Amino acid sequence: MNPLLSLLQDGKFRSGKNLGESLGVTRASIWKQLIKLEAETGLQLERIRGRGYRLSDPISLLALPLLSEHFAGVGWGSYFFESLASTNDKARDLIQAGCQPPFVVTSEQQISGRGRRGRSWVSPYGENLYFSLVWSLDEGARQLPGLSLSVGLAVLEALRELGISNVGLKWPNDVLVGERKIAGILTEAFGDLADKCTVIIGIGVNVNMMRGSDELTQPWTSVRLELGRLADRNQVAISLANSLSSYLAVHCHYGFGALRHEWESKNLWQGKDATISSSGRHVIGRILGVDDAGALRLLVGSGEQHYSGGELSLRLIK
Ligand code: BTN
Repeated sequence: MNPLLSLLQDGKFRSGKNLGESLGVTRASIWKQLIKLEAETGLQLERIRGRGYRLSDPISLLALPLLSEHFAGVGWGSYFFESLASTNDKARDLIQAGCQPPFVVTSEQQISGRGRRGRSWVSPYGENLYFSLVWSLDEGARQLPGLSLSVGLAVLEALRELGISNVGLKWPNDVLVGERKIAGILTEAFGDLADKCTVIIGIGVNVNMMRGSDELTQPWTSVRLELGRLADRNQVAISLANSLSSYLAVHCHYGFGALRHEWESKNLWQGKDATISSSGRHVIGRILGVDDAGALRLLVGSGEQHYSGGELSLRLIK
């Protein structure tokens, strides 16, 4: 955690003298560090003569000792970064460097956060949660199907625990409040997908984002917008770790089939008419639910068809 930012995270004014004394450096050095910080993070600082410096908007920084202890408590190693391209990419680098799963990678910021279907994932500094869990599957063929849907249930559970009661799921793994996206999941598997393999479970939760950016092409919301107050990102990460740990245990032991009915009960579009599209091909049908492998069950004409694959997109017919 950046020590200077940690002193300023509450959004209250602190003088250059006070900041300098706290960090054992000169006022001039504080001023230089703040200019650098602004340029690197995109955070906005206010300077008022006689009062000092403050962040225009308070933030909630990741508290590393707290989080690493909590992750260790559920049996996971952890790696924290100030800024990186993507926590999923870093997780892959760490696997290649020999780091043993399970472990989590989080960062205050992603420069090239990735979403599904080649989209980018907007990842401003200190605002949201960018979280990748590296997990090994002993029986990939049995445990991979439906994994990202089980993860969706875990994210939903974590958000409900934080007080967002009207959150639901959209196949395959969008987490929405009404029509607005609050979290997304990008799972990437490596190794022998039919046998022992490693999966990177990338989760992005919009926690304190208020303004967004032009890159956001879908309607979105955040925990802060839903609760009407700044959320503690550490609490979000802890709640997510707890629910992921229990849902993954069920999923790996029994398979997605054991969670299928729960998933359908939280499916916002259950029973609705929708278009499923892939590479310019569109099929219209009624959403019946999902099967034991997490594939979408669609009633097309008089027959049921099952669809799976990360490149498919689903649109509601209104
Ligand atoms: C989606 O398109 O809905 C999936 C979004 C997944 C975003 C997360 S943020 C942490 C991890 N790192 C990435 O680059 N992407 C995932």
